Amino acid sequence: MLREGGGFPKDGAAWADVEEALISFKQDDLDWRRGRLPAYIYYFDEDVLRVQMDAYRLYAVENGLGEGKAFFSLTRMLEDISSMCLDLFNGPSDGAASFTSGGTESLIEAVRTAKKRHVLEKGRDYPLNVVAPYSAHAALNKAGEVLDVEIRRIPLADEFRADPAAMAGAVDDGTIMLFGSAPCFPYGVIDPIRELGKVALEKGLWLHVDACWGGFISPFAKQLGYPIPDWDLGVPGVTSVSADIHKFAYGAKGASLLLFRDASLKELERFSFSDWPRGTYATPTLMGSKPAGSIASAWAVMNYLGNEGYLRTTKAAMDATMGFIRGIDAIDGLHCLQPTGEANLYAFVSDDPQVDIMAVADVLQNKGWFPGRMREPLAIQQGVNPVHLPIVDEYVSDVASAVAEVRSRGRQGQYDENSY
Ligand SMILES: Cc1ncc(COP(=O)(O)O)c(C=O)c1O
Repeated sequence: MLREGGGFPKDGAAWADVEEALISFKQDDLDWRRGRLPAYIYYFDEDVLRVQMDAYRLYAVENGLGEGKAFFSLTRMLEDISSMCLDLFNGPSDGAASFTSGGTESLIEAVRTAKKRHVLEKGRDYPLNVVAPYSAHAALNKAGEVLDVEIRRIPLADEFRADPAAMAGAVDDGTIMLFGSAPCFPYGVIDPIRELGKVALEKGLWLHVDACWGGFISPFAKQLGYPIPDWDLGVPGVTSVSADIHKFAYGAKGASLLLFRDASLKELERFSFSDWPRGTYATPTLMGSKPAGSIASAWAVMNYLGNEGYLRTTKAAMDATMGFIRGIDAIDGLHCLQPTGEANLYAFVSDDPQVDIMAVADVLQNKGWFPGRMREPLAIQQGVNPVHLPIVDEYVSDVASAVAEVRSRGRQGQYDENSY
């Protein structure tokens, strides 16, 4: 039996009891398998999940810190992942990729490397800034905080997209990077990366494209015929791209890529320190010890699924997205913000003063859904993945009855800052 609460356990417990406890804890969680969540999980089916987990388990003990010194297998896998993904994102064969723990680390590393390059080239370290659209992911500001770089968020142009001219106008001597998203998380639209690339080339600036969400959706959605504008390393002026493997590549959590057009930037990214007793300590990214399981899992799912497999996973996610958009647009009083089909993200607002969208969110929440509450505009925002496909009709019908209830009872809701 496991002890309840209290201090550090004096004696160990049987694995059967520990396992049972872990499984029972999950009863309090929202049911992601039944598509209740708008974020956090990325799931296709049991088969892919097994590959993700088994590969992780095979490398649960090895350490990415020993890659190339003790664990040559990790070097091999990282080289494979890098060349597969440079190909996928139209990078030059002499480009390079760093394996990070997630989207946040990829963004921190992009900004850290751009800062290093700027300081190296300009020879001075005055206040630095990144010029980004207002819709850039919040993690960019975490990078700014960690690296003491101002993040200049510039108002958006039409269709919630970045405004290249306004961004160009915000550039000054301290600008180390232009930033665009493919797509941005709030609205699911792809910024005009070609135009941003032109600005970057004109001004000699680093352009980072954050495809953390869309990296492993866009290339396949494009093949399926969705209207995906160009955004990757094939676009002139794009310096680096971030793409999360632990999202729609279906690798285990703790996996993202930062891809560089030019391999010398990966060299620049490298941290190396010698002035301590133990000698030179060098790491390619922010982390020291690094879960080798995430590397093995990433390598495994990419090889297991291949292009054909990702067409299937992407079709399921995009079919679900379009199903949600069509169903919600058909509900009187609601409309989706950007039904462009550029990504598996959408948001819907109320255009009926009798229907408070946050009250709709409250009703949905009481039914066990986790509505993503967006602030600007007030909307319910959702990231969609294959696990949602079977529940599209159920969700749309619950939204329709929530709208009817809110309208008939005149219910009011509250925006909740903590729904992401
Ligand atoms: C566009 C974008 N960038 C960055 C991130 C941060 O990724 P992570 O949660 O893996 O750190 C996300 C997460 O959803 C995202 O959608």
